[in-house]
Formats: sequence, C-alpha cells, structure tokens
Amino acid sequence: MPQIYLDNSATTPVSEEVFEAALPYLKDAFGNPGSIHSLGQQSRQAVNFARKQVAELIGAKPHEIYFTPSGTYSNNASILGRARFVEENGLGRHLITSGIEHSSALGPAKHLQSRGWKVDVLDVDAEGFIDFDQLLQLVTEETSIISIMWANNEVGTIQPVERIAKLAKERGIFFHTDAVQAAGKLKIDVSRIAVDALSITGHKLHAPKGIGALYVREGVEILPFVFGGGQEKGLFPGTESVANIVALGQAAEEASREYESNYEHLRSIQKVFVERFSALPNVTLTGPLDPEKRIPGHVSVIVHDRVGEDIVNAASEIGICISSVSACSSGHPSHVLKHLGYSQEQGFGSARISASGLNSYEECQYAAEILADIFAGKSVKSDSAHSSKVLGFPSQSHESNVARLDRHRSFMKNFHCSSNHY
Ligand SMILES: Cc1ncc(COP(=O)(O)O)c(C=O)c1O
Repeated sequence: MPQIYLDNSATTPVSEEVFEAALPYLKDAFGNPGSIHSLGQQSRQAVNFARKQVAELIGAKPHEIYFTPSGTYSNNASILGRARFVEENGLGRHLITSGIEHSSALGPAKHLQSRGWKVDVLDVDAEGFIDFDQLLQLVTEETSIISIMWANNEVGTIQPVERIAKLAKERGIFFHTDAVQAAGKLKIDVSRIAVDALSITGHKLHAPKGIGALYVREGVEILPFVFGGGQEKGLFPGTESVANIVALGQAAEEASREYESNYEHLRSIQKVFVERFSALPNVTLTGPLDPEKRIPGHVSVIVHDRVGEDIVNAASEIGICISSVSACSSGHPSHVLKHLGYSQEQGFGSARISASGLNSYEECQYAAEILADIFAGKSVKSDSAHSSKVLGFPSQSHESNVARLDRHRSFMKNFHCSSNHY
C-alpha cells in the first residue's frame, strides 16, 4: 500500500541527494579523519566541507559549528556545558526556560535545579508563545542562561527569538535556542540574530538519525561534559561519524537551496489541512492560528472525544502516517498542551500532521479528506490510487468512544512512562 508520510516533525526520509553524498563514506572512503594518510585526509576534507555547508544554512562561520551525535546532545551540551563554565567562574546560577521545551532541554534544566540552580519556567499563552514581560521580570543579575526553543515540535509555535536574543545580549546572558524543528524550514541567520548557541539535528532535515550540530558563537565559552580525544575541539570527543556528517552537510545545502520553494509549498499544504479541519465541529486547531507564526507544513489539532492513538492507527491502516502525543506508548499526555491550557482529557485527542518538501500538494489534499473523515468518526475508504479497502474507525459509536476513553484514562493513571515527545 503506498504511504503518505506526514510525520516529518518526528523524522524525515533521507533524500536521494543526501544518500548519494554519504554512500562513498560508508564504503571505500572509510578513513579516520584523524589519520594523516590520504584516506584519512579525504575524510577530514569531507568533514570540513560539511561544516561549511551547515554554517551556510544558518549564517555562521564554519569554525562555530560542532558536530554532535543528535539534537539531544546539542541541547544537553549547550545547557550543561555553559552551566559548567558558569560554576567554574563563580557566576550566578539562574536559568530561565519555557514550559514547552523538548525534554532534551527541560531534562538538563531539571538536572541543574537538582544541583542547586534556580530554574524559572516561563508561562506560554494559548497559542504557545512565551510571556515576554514575565521574562523581563525574571531576569536578574544572577541570570546566566536562557534556553528557549526557536519553534515547538508539537504545536509549531515560532518564538520571538530575535527579541529574546536582544534582551539576553543587552544583559550579558548566554542564550541558547533549540532550533531542531526550525532549521531548514525557517530562515535562521545568526549573523543577524544574537543567539550564543543553537541546536540542530540531521533527521528533521532529510539526513539520517544520529547526527546533530551545535552552533556556538565565536568567543562564547562552553565546557565539555564528555571527555576523550580532541575531536570537535574537545567539546564532542569521539571519532567523527563521517558518513553522517557528510549527510548532514548535504542536507543543509539542499535545505538552503530549496528554502524559498519549500516554504511556499509547505504554506500551501498547511492551508489545505487547516481549511479542511476548521470545518469540523469536533476539532480544535492547536498552536498559532496565524500560519506565519508556526512551522510551515505543520498542523496540530485536538479531536474531541477521540483517542489520538486510534486516529493515528486508523490513518496508518489506510497508508497515512501522522502522529499523536496523547498515547502512552509515546509518553505522558503532552506537557506542551498542558502549558497551553488544555486539560489532560483534551490532550488525549491530539494529532499532528507535519509535511516536508517531498509531499505533493495532491496527496495532501487526499490525506486531508481522509483525515477529516477519521476525525469525524466516519468509515474511511481509500481511493483507487491507494487501495479499495473500506476501513471502520475503531471507535465509531458514542458508547465505544466513552469506553475507550475510560480505558485510556485508567491506563494513564496506572502507568508512568517516560516522556518521549518528538
Ligand atoms: C524540538 C526538539 N528538540 C530536540 C529534539 C531531539 O533531537 P534528536 O532526536 O536528534 O535527539 C527533538 C526531536 O524530536 C525535537 O523535536
């Protein structure tokens, strides 16, 4: 059955161009970049070239880019690495973050709190925007780190990063932003916006999983929290994952090149879903309603009286891949939706559709119709281009919905799963 993949905020397929670029480094060009012979130097040059490609995507200088094992590592290294610098230099131990950060930024913040740091968590409004006045009030002489994401993975909200960066710079505070969901989809120019550190991951922009990058502004200090060889200037020691690094470089170049056309394309796709879902009485669109204020191609909803997991399964049976953050298999009910003011019960029915430049407009029109039927609790039938199967929504009757929600509630009460929202 052909698939329509609309879960690009979770991960993206590796593009043809990226695959072709990386392949030689999995085969014949296997040298260790630390070796001085020709094979080693071939790998070294490939790593340096990729560094340049990633730097160009965000307006940085190549030596400001460090390759990391993932976005999770980039976030941890930035927050904990700066915290180590703060502690060793006797600076104020106060960190400000927001309540809707990814767990890989909230985790290090909580860890610092357990070590005696003061951690303030900013409120967000119903669309997920941080409260800038609250940020202004919370900043003190003791504040040494602000970490606020560029764009949110669950509800797509783009934060006022430029304003935050300006404030941080004026007060001499280190500002880190998690740009994992933004890189490649939104214009990022660190030569214009004064962020000190910025996290990227490869697998959200058509490179493989297990490769990331951290931008650290020239002159800004971060200390390592992993020790080993001197790779990545000692900040991320370990033999470089050359094929993955080459892939990330190529993905960055492709994203830069395709930026304008992808942006328009993703905005038009987003409109298709938003218009279709807005017409449904049991659906609430979550995150910013103004499309310019959210990640292009990203649509998130709450479907009332439905369990997100059922929606995802019903869509999957017909070949459409989307996601939900309400299912226990993927963690607690969303901390993001909670911060936006939704109840745990409402959070059960969350669904997220996230397109990439590889999705066609036509397949998204088709997917919007199918998903609208699933949201409405109707039986769905794929068209001939997909399959002739007629599928029943697993919880169509009111009674079975109620029973399912009850089952889900008690499941959530009894299980404590680790948060894993991507
Ligand atoms: C906003 C955000 N930050 C960080 C990460 C972690 O990136 P990685 O999967 O490369 O560890 C994710 C991944 O889902 C994310 O969405």
